Amino acid sequence: MPGVAIVETVAALRQAVAGWHGVGERVALVPTMGALHEGHIALVREAQRHARRVVVSIFVNPTQFAPHEDFKKYPRTFESDCAMLSEANADAVFFPSVEEMYPQGFATRILLLGPAAVGLDDRFRPTHFEGVATICCKLFTQSRADCAVFGEKDYQQLKVVTRMARDLDLGITIIPLATVREADGLALSSRNRYLSAQDRALAPLLHQVMQRLAARLRNGEPLFQAVGEAQGEIIGAGFELDYLEARHAETLAPVTGLADGPVRLLVAARLGATRLIDNIPV
Ligand code: PAF
Repeated sequence: MPGVAIVETVAALRQAVAGWHGVGERVALVPTMGALHEGHIALVREAQRHARRVVVSIFVNPTQFAPHEDFKKYPRTFESDCAMLSEANADAVFFPSVEEMYPQGFATRILLLGPAAVGLDDRFRPTHFEGVATICCKLFTQSRADCAVFGEKDYQQLKVVTRMARDLDLGITIIPLATVREADGLALSSRNRYLSAQDRALAPLLHQVMQRLAARLRNGEPLFQAVGEAQGEIIGAGFELDYLEARHAETLAPVTGLADGPVRLLVAARLGATRLIDNIPV
């Protein structure tokens, strides 16, 4: 099996993409921070449906981590990532250094409003989306890819990046992909490997509570009360709950009932030091 090509500089990335574009081939980007799992491979497969060539970026982006967060201990598994990407027939891995992405004197950030300022993850990680948007904007303009695939698991991120690409005319189409789950419903995440055996057994409850809440809402139960009871169930099970909310699926604005919809349920909760996020449509 031929190994996936590894590209470490912006110049080499541009050269590869220009070659493909030169012969009329569409190029898709799958941005990742590595520690790949089947959810990432599903993104690659989706990208292959939209483009002849697929570039996967692997970059643990320091600007999206707060000082107290897990940047240093974020799992780095480059060799097994490359093996998975070779197996999936990705065309190239873009694996830049921090200096390549943030050269000395780098002093620019993207200021976000709209879905980045709605009191969900932005309330608990106030500088996170600024870092995500900055690195995604750079990856889009560096790669000049035609499209990029993002998982719905990071739903607020998906909305922020989609809005940024549109508002800044970045010339790239953002393609969403449904969350890939374990058999017990837990959303796949690189951070799941932090969970102790006991916390791993408890973690799928988040998805179960959201599914029951969605069913209650579809049955016409009052939103405020049903959401409050679901929040209580999560806290009662031992999670530290950051939020469980019903929001408009596009704007992420608060809703008071399904008539304000389409409605999406979004949750973030901690088990020990591991923060889990998830979301489902109602
Ligand atoms: O979702 C992620 O893995 C990251 O936030 C992303 C989009 C690769 C930006 O660093």
